[in-house]
Amino acid sequence: MLPPRSDFPADFVFGAATSAYQIEGSSNGNAGASHWDSFAATPGNIMDDSNGSIACDHYNRWPEDLDLIRDAGMGAYRFSTSWARVMPDGATPNPEGMDFYDRLVDGMLERGLQPHLTYYHWELPAALAVKGGWQNRDIAARFADYCVAVNARLGDRIAGAATLNEPWCIAWLSHFLGHHAPGLRDIRAAGHAMHHVLLAHGQAMSALRAEGAKNLGIVLNFETAHPADDTPAAARTAEVQDAIYNQWFIRAVMGQGYPEAALEGLRPHMPAGWEEDMQAIAQPIDWLGVNYYTRKLHAPGAGLWPAARDVAGPLPKTQMDWEIRPEGLTEFLTRLKRDHVGDLPIFVTENGMAEAAGPDVTQDPTRVAFIGDHLRAAKAAMDQGVNLRGFFYWSLLDNYEWGWGYGPRFGLVHVDYATQKRTPKSSWHAMRAMLAG
Ligand code: FCB
Repeated sequence: MLPPRSDFPADFVFGAATSAYQIEGSSNGNAGASHWDSFAATPGNIMDDSNGSIACDHYNRWPEDLDLIRDAGMGAYRFSTSWARVMPDGATPNPEGMDFYDRLVDGMLERGLQPHLTYYHWELPAALAVKGGWQNRDIAARFADYCVAVNARLGDRIAGAATLNEPWCIAWLSHFLGHHAPGLRDIRAAGHAMHHVLLAHGQAMSALRAEGAKNLGIVLNFETAHPADDTPAAARTAEVQDAIYNQWFIRAVMGQGYPEAALEGLRPHMPAGWEEDMQAIAQPIDWLGVNYYTRKLHAPGAGLWPAARDVAGPLPKTQMDWEIRPEGLTEFLTRLKRDHVGDLPIFVTENGMAEAAGPDVTQDPTRVAFIGDHLRAAKAAMDQGVNLRGFFYWSLLDNYEWGWGYGPRFGLVHVDYATQKRTPKSSWHAMRAMLAG
């Protein structure tokens, strides 16, 4: 059910993705507290009241986990460094944290895996969160310092690095919708975070370039925003959601300015003088990372801007009720080429689905079909001229799915959280068979 390996160029990168908080175990190895530790300790935030303190205990079990990537025949691993582990107070390097990632990167190279680093997959040190976190402009300079410190240690061995994972989640989901740390529902906090996250990207890019770092990019998430019906009001609502989600970040990074349909609501809540930062944000990138999972249907809602509500769609759904719509991947890749990045190299840095474990935890037939359909959708975009260079499946392991806790299972490999036993699923075997050619 997966397409043949030969459908893709020989140098096309196949890999798996994870993130630090979701797998490492934040209580391991003297890491500092992150705002996810705080958020998860606050009642009502996580569906099963769980946290990432143990997670998949990857901090101790990483050799076995890297073996699983290599044994599937993959050539790359997308991982993140935890800011709170590397700098527990947000500023002072923790040698133990740096040593862990140093061993991890060496472990990848020993196994023939290209290390693809993400500097920020959401472990904001709690010490910075209490100073306002992404609402505070100072975060940009702090983030650039953190990136430079990690680059000094790992930069000689990594294949490429992204500044941020999914700024929409960092800013909008976390400060306007309140679903992720710090759990705010405050439009001024959101307006500030929407801008400071991009300023942090721009300043980190400049600082890393000054250090001679190569192959730098950013990972953005895209979600199809369709109107729930064919009324002009629904079309307008979807247009605003598309601007906030799918245009705000890529336009700013590519020097195209913020989209008016989002600014019309956010302008009064932006930090003073934001217009003067747009040039600092638009640093040239070497590649773009695209995370794609689903689409949403939007209907006009009562009340204040952006006055939208989500409507359940008719397509088959994952364990998290996300609609499965592979053609959305082709649409975004071709749209990005046409409207924003031209021939810049693109990687699919995340794509995957949650599928509940059945009585036999090794059987995940829906995931096998999902991966096959999305690889074909990626190939269709390449056939239309998109310069797609690789595909990372989310995720290697079942792991901590943020506000959903440990319920949703995204892994190619099943994790029994009581014993930490890893068991490859049929999707892992299907990838291995495909990559073996
Ligand atoms: C993305 C996140 C990743 C994971 C997947 C399911 O938004 O980057 O950490 O939670 O969704």
